[in-house]
Amino acid sequence: SERSFVMIKPDGVSRQLVGKIITRFEERGYKLVAVKSLTPSPALAKEHYIDLASRPFYKGLVDYITSGTPVVAMVWEGKDVIRQGRRIVGATNPQESDPGSVRGQYAVSVGRNLIHASDSFDSASKEIELWFAESELAEYKPTTWDWVMADN
Ligand code: GTP
Ligand code: MG
Repeated sequence: SERSFVMIKPDGVSRQLVGKIITRFEERGYKLVAVKSLTPSPALAKEHYIDLASRPFYKGLVDYITSGTPVVAMVWEGKDVIRQGRRIVGATNPQESDPGSVRGQYAVSVGRNLIHASDSFDSASKEIELWFAESELAEYKPTTWDWVMADN
């Protein structure tokens, strides 16, 4: 099964929503492969959002991510977790996010939208490699795994 990079942004940490957000992924049956709290360097934040470098909000985005309030960087694994992770997170602009999504439940502003999730298999691979060393990625089987994953 596949892996996605998910990051609770500084507003999510500051607003003490870390537990509630992690619970969404845990309760869905996804496996927590890696997790760490850190304040990203400007170089890391710029590289993470490099595809948006020409956008007018890029500097503000990098400043927000590197503000000094930490982010919680995670890797989640499971069936279709990249696409399902994007559904859990909701639309980029919280004004458009489904109210059942994290952004739709807890955020109102596109510049403070709480959470990131990889948008494709390609970006998931790149982001996991950018944020984590191979040795930080755990290999284990949750006790729930067979029940969650069975499809017959
Ligand atoms: P991420 O999961 O964070 O990558 O968000 P996304 O994939 O839903 O959106 P995208 O990659 O296009 O933009 C990355 C981030 O830039 C968003 O999550 C916002 O925090 C920010 N952003 C995107 N568009 C705007 C905008 O129009 N204005 C502002 N201020 N921020 C924006
Ligand atoms: Mg994105």
